[in-house]
Amino acid sequence: MLLNLEHLGMAVHDLAAATALYTKLLGRAPYKTEHVASEAVDTVFFQVGGSKIELLAGTSPDSAITKYLEKKPEGIHHLAFEVDDIVAEMARLREQGFVVLNEAPKDGADDKLVCFVHPKSAGGVLVELCQSKAK
Ligand code: CO
Repeated sequence: MLLNLEHLGMAVHDLAAATALYTKLLGRAPYKTEHVASEAVDTVFFQVGGSKIELLAGTSPDSAITKYLEKKPEGIHHLAFEVDDIVAEMARLREQGFVVLNEAPKDGADDKLVCFVHPKSAGGVLVELCQSKAK
């Protein structure tokens, strides 16, 4: 089932500038920076209570974030919900008519298995499901 709002993903052009901005805004340093090769993105994570802010910058012209920022301004890119069984949630959402973009969960940032739900089927918002990998 869907648990908490795990993070908000923010698409940014300049990761260093955005990191400095969010460090000032939140009054704390990020807890993690990570390159995700499969998505061609650099990420920076801030903990905010039980949730997180994920900054995302594309590292290649093919990156989904680079393409997104060619059409849209910087800002909220996706909502990510933590789930306890990502395969079961993907099946449940498909049954409910949502367009799940991945056939199977894939490796995401921050030690998670992830999948995405198309914004066209989700009220205009890209939705990520994520499940912590067993440690
Ligand atoms: Co995310």
